[in-house]
Amino acid sequence: MDKILVTGGLGFIGSHTVVELQSEGFEVVIIDNLSNSSMDVLEGITAISGKSPIFEKLELKDKSAVQNFFSKYKDIKGVIHFAASKAVGESVQEPLMYYENNLNTLIYVLQELAAKTEANFIFSSSCTVYGQADEMPITENAAIKPAESPYGNTKQIGEEIIKDTCKVKPNLNAIALRYFNPIGAHPTARIGELPIGVPQNLVPFITQTGAGLRDALSVFGDDYPTPDGTCIRDYIHVVDLAKAHVVALKRLLSKKNIANYETFNIGTGVGSSVLEVIHAFERVSDKKLNYQIADRRIGDVISAYADTTKANTELGWEAKSSLNEAILSAWKWEKKIRGL
Ligand code: WQD
Repeated sequence: MDKILVTGGLGFIGSHTVVELQSEGFEVVIIDNLSNSSMDVLEGITAISGKSPIFEKLELKDKSAVQNFFSKYKDIKGVIHFAASKAVGESVQEPLMYYENNLNTLIYVLQELAAKTEANFIFSSSCTVYGQADEMPITENAAIKPAESPYGNTKQIGEEIIKDTCKVKPNLNAIALRYFNPIGAHPTARIGELPIGVPQNLVPFITQTGAGLRDALSVFGDDYPTPDGTCIRDYIHVVDLAKAHVVALKRLLSKKNIANYETFNIGTGVGSSVLEVIHAFERVSDKKLNYQIADRRIGDVISAYADTTKANTELGWEAKSSLNEAILSAWKWEKKIRGL
């Protein structure tokens, strides 16, 4: 049973990926500093998969702690690296915290992998690297535009760091998965998204409004050049996204990669507007959502949805869940954690 390290494995996408890894027979070691998650998530993972991953509470910004970890676990066959700060707005206010946390940690993990005779690395990247792409749907060859936020810049720089390292370390095999918009929760409602404070993202804000925690959703602008005036995104079920990580890892473990650095867009290929997401919530919850139109949010792109051809044909993965199914899973989770 190959042993896989998942950094940030108690986070939203990380926890769902650990569940999928364990269901495929991998032995999982989680590193998490619990800055944006809790030990309840470990219980949820164990409850779903009937297996408890090894857990190491560790600060990846501590280089010697990372070195000690890899000395202790010499049999790690692959690493899926989620650990990072990910709030776009916060990154504008705290750029140094974002550059330190998102880049130093990546560098320390890569330094350990580069020293191994063989290493397999999956990087949590983001469609944010494209900025406002010129053409829809977005392919992996789309231009990398100047980042709109320090958060987005850490993803762009992170990819460059990996690419440059792979050029001189043929033993290091890496895949960057560029996520579109992850939403939803595990169908068991044992794990899901746990935003701290006021949710920055659309879907958790919708479900919290539906649950009565928020008075109303503010729709950030309805005067965009889109069919209904609201921004368009590619909302992908977090379980579909988690499965993409396992497929990518297996690609590297079975040496099916055609280069030692590859990138894949991971989305559904379907663009949905903010109003369409609101209406989907109203359909699946049978509740009217209270919302108001507000000013545009600085930094928002008008439209972003994936061309999934490369992931479908080369990676051999495609998203299975519809927007309705993803929103319903998010709503089930919200009701569960609020005791509704
Ligand atoms: C989606 C749409 C908002 C909240 C960001 C990051 C991306 C990834 C996902 C980390 C936009 C609108 C939102 C609200 C609204 N993060 N909206 N009212 O900005 O596409 O992507 O989160 O990995 O990297 O860039 O997602 O959910 O914040 O916004 O109208 O209260 O919903 O304007 O059009 P986004 P989002």
